[in-house]
Amino acid sequence: MTLTERQKDSVRRASEILRRGGVVGMPTETVYGLAGSIESEDGIRKIFEVKQRPFFDPLIVHISSLAQKDFVVREWPKAANFLAERFWPGPLTMVLPKQISLNSMITSGLDTVGMRMPRHPIARSLIEVLGAPIAAPSANRFGKTSPTTVDHVRQEFLAEDLFVLDGGPCEIGLESTVVGFTDHGVSIYRPGVITKEIIEREFLKVGLDLTVTYQESPATPGHLKHHYQPSKPLVIVEKNTFSSTEIARQLGIDSNGFVELILADNPVIAARTLYKQLRDLSSSSAQFLIVRRLPEHLSDAWAAVWDRLTRASSLTFQ
Ligand code: TXA
Ligand code: MG
Repeated sequence: MTLTERQKDSVRRASEILRRGGVVGMPTETVYGLAGSIESEDGIRKIFEVKQRPFFDPLIVHISSLAQKDFVVREWPKAANFLAERFWPGPLTMVLPKQISLNSMITSGLDTVGMRMPRHPIARSLIEVLGAPIAAPSANRFGKTSPTTVDHVRQEFLAEDLFVLDGGPCEIGLESTVVGFTDHGVSIYRPGVITKEIIEREFLKVGLDLTVTYQESPATPGHLKHHYQPSKPLVIVEKNTFSSTEIARQLGIDSNGFVELILADNPVIAARTLYKQLRDLSSSSAQFLIVRRLPEHLSDAWAAVWDRLTRASSLTFQ
């Protein structure tokens, strides 16, 4: 996709704001980000302030070319290069030892940094025009559902005069897969549409003997038990045999007191619409949202959707 003249103008305006130490809303293929230049301490601080994000939760750095990685990380293991060749630009964040010169506010004082190369043309263009990598967490207040449309970002930051680049609805709809590296292979800290099985398959194709495991992140907040919370309580119903009447009775409400989130059959489509559905259903008059975990949801392809639903939920009916 090439940008229209109008989009190019908006990107130039956004890059000026970043250069002056401001922040802007930036579309990516996963979710919208709240962007600041890694070269501006004011910009980085503003990201935390506007998001009301605690300073101990590190930011992801976005690059538009492989050459830029050297401003961000100081080591580039073979496995990282292999994954970059296969999955970049795209929804994969790699946690690696940080470059000494990288502002440690970005990494919350950790010696590592999360880095990815997005594939959304507006994000790429913004990084190119600015001429520097961009730090960007998801553009929502801390702990809340990530935005997947320009309107979601505006609603999230109504009080701020935030400039938001319009990149249309996000193609993927869930945050990137976050991985770290071990001596034996790769640890997945946050599941995403690039699943464990997809990464394993790539290693296998070229005969690389590396393992892929799920692991708690060394930087907890984005992986807190409760995160991605909608504005109404979400209840997970484990038994798909529960009738509406039974669910209502358990919740102590009448049967129009809740609305059901229906997941698409295909996990990729379910991911794309998940956050929008959570937002839309939260604005209904119902007191509770419910979602059913079906037997087919146990496969690896559903790991990211259920990771977010579990963290977004307040209650589970077994
Ligand atoms: O798709 C995405 O990743 C989106 C778009 C905007 O790129 N960004 C995003 O950022 O989801 P954020 O900040 O909401 O989530 C970043 C996650 C957090 O869970 C954070 O804890 C983790 O990455 N993270 C960042 N740096 C890390 C590090 N050094 N070690 C471990 N985890 C890290
Ligand atoms: Mg987030």
